[in-house]
Amino acid sequence: MKKVDIVLVGFGNVGREFVRLVIEKQEVIRQRHGLDLRFRTIFRTTGSLMVKSQSPIEGILAGTIPPGREAALWNPAVRLPQVLAPGARGVLVECASSDIRTGEPGLEIIRTALSRGWHAVTADKGPLVAGLGELRKTAARKGLTLGSSGAAGAALPALDVGLRSLAGTEITAVEGILNGTTNYILTRMGQGASFDQALRAAQARGIAEPDPSYDVQGLDTAVKLLLLANAAMGLCLGLGDIDIEPVTRVSRRRIETARRRGQKIKLLGKIQRGPRGVRAEAKLRALGPSHPLFGVDGTDKGVTFTTDTMGAVTVTGGKSDPRGAAAALLKDIINIYVR
Ligand SMILES: NC(=O)c1ccc[n+]([C@@H]2O[C@H](COP(=O)([O-])OP(=O)(O)OC[C@H]3O[C@@H](n4cnc5c(N)ncnc54)[C@H](OP(=O)(O)O)[C@@H]3O)[C@@H](O)[C@H]2O)c1
Repeated sequence: MKKVDIVLVGFGNVGREFVRLVIEKQEVIRQRHGLDLRFRTIFRTTGSLMVKSQSPIEGILAGTIPPGREAALWNPAVRLPQVLAPGARGVLVECASSDIRTGEPGLEIIRTALSRGWHAVTADKGPLVAGLGELRKTAARKGLTLGSSGAAGAALPALDVGLRSLAGTEITAVEGILNGTTNYILTRMGQGASFDQALRAAQARGIAEPDPSYDVQGLDTAVKLLLLANAAMGLCLGLGDIDIEPVTRVSRRRIETARRRGQKIKLLGKIQRGPRGVRAEAKLRALGPSHPLFGVDGTDKGVTFTTDTMGAVTVTGGKSDPRGAAAALLKDIINIYVR
């Protein structure tokens, strides 16, 4: 049985779900994969919790610890480098919410882990958009793995397909419907709703954030596209290289015209390598029934890779919620240790 120490940074929606999932699946993972996953320390902004036994975290998750007592469990004096002792190898799980332009605080957190010989897996897009090149280099130099499935589509296993299943091919294009909120809005508009009605329906169902601008401005799609294409196509593009069209620009007329032609308007992220270089965009496109992503409706997501030797390969589905993201983190950890 291989013991795997876990240090978790971020105890919000995804972090809590990750802890729940690991506790729930601990026995199955022991039996099926021969891995004994153990939480050592959990960090949030208010401090850290040394995990000596599982009961305090189970109490926090179940809400059975009174808030005053719970607050006292988090020690503000302990810093991350102190618990990432060099030599005591394990995996750092990063679930903070970082700035997409600076990558912080996630970038420094992952940098610290890798520099101390710890593998890292993350659900946080910021550090990957701002510092993927640097983090990849450090990981490779130290023989470590940086798992990023949780950030690049989460439960949709697109990154694994691009990196492993299509190894040896030349991926000439990656295109995807990558954001559940905007796809839900466009699907509802295709059924007759206005943009405002569709957005309100998405908010009422908890699909869209109270402030949906990151999604409807096309940024989330562009960022996920970058993470997938940079990894799978070996590129080093930044957010500024992507031509982005916000979903707010879509008119009812455009949706109606597409519908009459048997097409659907989708926010399609696409990075394509052509004779004149690489073209990158996240734009509203009319897709016909022969397009592999035509049937990706509602909150579903999908990605198509075009390759030189394996043709076009499409992956669709996967849950779009904190549990799906937590499951993607767990999958990355298992794949680090079990090959
Ligand atoms: N929610 C989803 O469905 C989903 C899906 C895929 C990916 N993601 C990504 O996963 C990440 C986490 O999402 P979330 O919904 O769990 O966010 P969240 O609920 O806001 O949780 C963020 C957590 O990070 C902690 N944190 C922030 N800065 C920190 C720092 N410097 N040191 C230690 N802890 C720090 C926060 O501490 P406090 O508790 O003290 O505030 C909080 O516990 C985000 O990057 C998000 O984009 C989310």
